[in-house]
Amino acid sequence: MSVQPSAPEPGKRPAMTMHSLMKMLADGEKITMLTAYDATFAAVADLAGVEIILVGDSLGMVCQGHNSTIPVTLESMRYHTECVARGVQKQNGRPIILGDMPFGSYATPEQAFQSAATLMQAGAHMVKLEGGAWLAPTVEFLVTRGIPVCGHLGLTPQSVNTLGGYRVQGRTETGAQKLMQDSLLLQNAGAQALVLEMVPAALSAEITRALTTCATIGIGAGVDTAGQILVLHDMLGVTQGKVPKFAYNFMTESGTILGAMQAFVQAVKTQKFPVNELHAW
Ligand code: KIV
Repeated sequence: MSVQPSAPEPGKRPAMTMHSLMKMLADGEKITMLTAYDATFAAVADLAGVEIILVGDSLGMVCQGHNSTIPVTLESMRYHTECVARGVQKQNGRPIILGDMPFGSYATPEQAFQSAATLMQAGAHMVKLEGGAWLAPTVEFLVTRGIPVCGHLGLTPQSVNTLGGYRVQGRTETGAQKLMQDSLLLQNAGAQALVLEMVPAALSAEITRALTTCATIGIGAGVDTAGQILVLHDMLGVTQGKVPKFAYNFMTESGTILGAMQAFVQAVKTQKFPVNELHAW
């Protein structure tokens, strides 16, 4: 794959809002999302033209050295969200900052509201929660109270113990139907974005076509989602241990971190990344 970084003109672009996100979805413009956990990387991602920065609970693994995301606390998420928000504010202030709700912080709608409020007050514009039908009332509760929501289906890492490992989801007919139903329920509850992780490419394409007011953001879910997300450390090629099949090291064709992020943005926009045969199932 050969992707040339193109110089974005971020200074000329207005800050992203939920309205502009929905416009991108309606226009069919691919949405780019990267994780960042601190001010510097967040500022570079802003400069590179990334539309959404996810302060992911993956920080538990890539920053804190845990084996899963389960030990990550709300206080850690608040701290890293504040760091990212400061970095973005000092740069162009363009991306949507998406705060990840950690394990155990959204068991009830009321608890979810308190946790989400903590992340919004730290600088998040939207929050992400993992789960399907059981979460729909919580999503509606949050959206009604002014908190934009991103869902997360497929491989949901906080449920690694019930899923029995980090595996592709939705491979059986029943599993695929459930993923489709859950996606529609989350959209109807008001979710405006939905991460689909490790879902067969054909199924995530079908879900993407079925959703009209909720942008699917794929990771290991094929090229046909409305947008793509990668974990920063995976796309910079510094992940230690097993690198997921869906990852791609953008540093190999671009010697700088800014160049790698620009190459990611460009590759997603032009649908050169991901390649279904290489990065999906
Ligand atoms: O925490 C995270 O980085 C995530 C992505 C893998 C989508 O949830």
